[in-house]
Amino acid sequence: MVDFERIADVTDYVAGEPLSVLIDDIPALIIELDGRYVAIEDRCSHDGQPLSDGLITEGTIECARHGARFDLATGAALCMPATEGIATFDLVIKDGGFWGRSRKAELVPAATASQVAAASASGTAANEPSAVSTTTTEPFEAPDEGVLIESLREVIDPELMINIVDLGLIYGVTLTEDKVNVEMTLTSPACPAGPQIIQQSKMALMRVPGINSADIKLVMSPPWTPERMTDEARDQLGIF
Ligand code: FES
Repeated sequence: MVDFERIADVTDYVAGEPLSVLIDDIPALIIELDGRYVAIEDRCSHDGQPLSDGLITEGTIECARHGARFDLATGAALCMPATEGIATFDLVIKDGGFWGRSRKAELVPAATASQVAAASASGTAANEPSAVSTTTTEPFEAPDEGVLIESLREVIDPELMINIVDLGLIYGVTLTEDKVNVEMTLTSPACPAGPQIIQQSKMALMRVPGINSADIKLVMSPPWTPERMTDEARDQLGIF
């Protein structure tokens, strides 16, 4: 565990406004929550934009860009388009200052990922930031793109019961060394199955030999339309 470092004076805090600081070189915000202070990452997990001008209400912060909302206490993503949480930090007040430290050392990728998948499947919780880390130490063997796309066919949209490749949700798959980047969409921006689909996609990609990390970016433009489906998927849905 890293040591606490002094990050600001308590007098820097202006009531009702988030205080921008750096904790372990990570942009962060100190926010008052129910009479105590919390520190969250100042970076929306949807598209990397700052949260400093977000709307703070009832223990949450809402990104000013596209409306993703995060729990201030846990960093969990509470609604689309965010599918991953943001980091939170340890924070104490001592000697007239705020002292913070990163919680990176506490991340437990593999075990917690399955818990989050189960939670997403049951619709009971959004993703925790530590839980969606998918880095492993497998040796690198370059798979081809067809193998990666094939792995995504394992992921079934729970509402339409069709795999996400045949549904036309995959916009692009690129491989950089041992990391795969996927751009995908959902059948609707408010799709309640979004977090589950994203998490299962990551897990499917991570099962491909040679893949050590998978990053999935959700894009809403161009929007999905039924024309993106394969003929087989249309047949299954009775669309001609
Ligand atoms: S950048 Fe925050 S919701 Fe899109």
